[in-house]
Amino acid sequence: MKRIVILISGRGSNMQALLEANLPCQVAAVISNRADAQGLEIARMRGVETAVVSHKDYADRVAFDAALAAKIDAHQPDLIVLAGFMRILTAGFVERYTGRLINIHPSLLPAYPGIDTHQRALTDGTRIHGCTVHFVTPDLDHGPIIIQAAVPVLRDDTAQSLSARVLGEEHRIFPQAVRWLCRNQVWLDQTGRVASDRLEQPGAALISPGLE
Ligand code: GAR
Repeated sequence: MKRIVILISGRGSNMQALLEANLPCQVAAVISNRADAQGLEIARMRGVETAVVSHKDYADRVAFDAALAAKIDAHQPDLIVLAGFMRILTAGFVERYTGRLINIHPSLLPAYPGIDTHQRALTDGTRIHGCTVHFVTPDLDHGPIIIQAAVPVLRDDTAQSLSARVLGEEHRIFPQAVRWLCRNQVWLDQTGRVASDRLEQPGAALISPGLE
């Protein structure tokens, strides 16, 4: 059975969704860069080993990433999962885990990389927003896409209400992506593209607002 390590920085709702998804892999550890991350307690309550590698204890990103990699490698994971991990990682760190490092991002990438994705989507008046699970590359929030979910943006949405709607979908697509990876049904091929044995669904469209 494959082993995964989950990295978090805060609330940990995506991590919780993974822990509750009965995945075909062993969650070897949850690691946070913040000792006060709420998700740590959730992991401990479920009997998952936790660790903290605080970025504040290191002089620069290279030193922090080296300490983080050492902590991760001690668990010999097949997959490293960024579940609301809010530190930018160095190219050296990312390249060490090519094809084994995935992230969830609260937008339909390549739209809205970075932060404040929901407010930016509202400001632009987009009708459809969503979330993305992707392989991590040194190009921040631009790695090869594994799965996305789209949600409608509603007239009265606030950043908060839109965020909640997107988060509900994050909790669905993230376990799905990890399941595929653990079963070797999705992988990063030699050319850096996502390969898959999954059936595609032509005709599955979200139209927002809906047609008459
Ligand atoms: C999630 O919405 C995740 O997509 C986002 O942070 C939130 C973490 O929530 N990640 C990023 O913005 C990464 N760039 P959670 O701690 O409850 O899973």
